[in-house]
Amino acid sequence: MIEVSDLTKAYGPRAAIQNLNFTIGKGEIVGFLGPNGAGKSTTMKILTGFMPATSGTAKVAGFDVFSQAIDVKRNVGYLPENPPVYMEMIVEDYLEYAAKLHDVERGKLRSSISSAIERTGLTGVRKRIIGNLSKGYRQRVGLAQALVHNPQVLILDEPTVGLDPVQIIEIRELIKGLAGHHTVILSSHILPEVTATCQRIIVINKGHIVAQDTIEKLTTRMRQGLLFNLQVKNASAGGINAIKSISGVKSVGNEGSKLVIEIEPNQSELRDRIIEIAVSEKMGVLEFAPEKLSLEEVFLQLTTNEGAHS
Ligand SMILES: Nc1ncnc2c1ncn2[C@@H]1O[C@H](COP(=O)(O)OP(=O)(O)OP(=O)(O)O)[C@@H](O)[C@H]1O
Ligand SMILES: [Mg+2]
Repeated sequence: MIEVSDLTKAYGPRAAIQNLNFTIGKGEIVGFLGPNGAGKSTTMKILTGFMPATSGTAKVAGFDVFSQAIDVKRNVGYLPENPPVYMEMIVEDYLEYAAKLHDVERGKLRSSISSAIERTGLTGVRKRIIGNLSKGYRQRVGLAQALVHNPQVLILDEPTVGLDPVQIIEIRELIKGLAGHHTVILSSHILPEVTATCQRIIVINKGHIVAQDTIEKLTTRMRQGLLFNLQVKNASAGGINAIKSISGVKSVGNEGSKLVIEIEPNQSELRDRIIEIAVSEKMGVLEFAPEKLSLEEVFLQLTTNEGAHS
């Protein structure tokens, strides 16, 4: 549904994004995660046909974003970083305007507007002037205009910014509900945001993709097998000491029946030894697995590795 190949954008002499490559399948919800200035908004503006790239190609819903920008716009809903809501307009009039702009058929105008209003929780303010609404409600209007033509692809630049916690949960549920039928790419520099809504994440830092994977795989991969969790029935002191005495085991921590075992790098064969000891000490092994990093730790590792790409 989205295919990006060697995409580069320079503002003057400075490259904001460099040689990005990724694909997003139909019905996927993908998070674009990165610190301030990483290039998230730049990439999104290019994908919506809003701004040309310096080089590379991007296809959205089968259309080239450069040569077929009009077709792209018809099939894409875009919530920009600063939603372009007209402050002096009434909510439903603005949504009608947005729907017409996206070529919604006359016969479907009313139902499209009502559905967008309902989905974004704007029913109570549909007759109000946008400029008099709170920031969170204006953000909802921005989302409603992105949804009003029921596009195949939604590109949402920080969709929950400015919303209160209750609204954040509602909007996340709304976005999750789009999976399967719509393809969604959303940006955030907030980790819980992507964990809560996305199936896969693309981590971007200083204009480069530093990782793209499922959240599950990313958190496992980054640990490099140094920490293991051993869940046992009987965490006896004798057993724990026996594991501690294995050469190459750096430390063994225990929280009840869960042992957290740290081993020296490049010693993954120690895993056999740990299991053998646990069995011979009759600890009753229930589970043995690499300890996962939280997404927060992964993000920090990926984005604070100075010099990796500079
Ligand atoms: N119109 C512009 N002219 C010059 N430089 C720009 C322009 N827009 C963005 N940049 C630069 O490009 C880089 C990427 O900016 P971008 O807005 O894409 O980052 P972002 O990941 O969306 O950040 P944030 O989380 O702060 O929204 C930054 O260094 C920014 O200063
Ligand atoms: Mg941005």
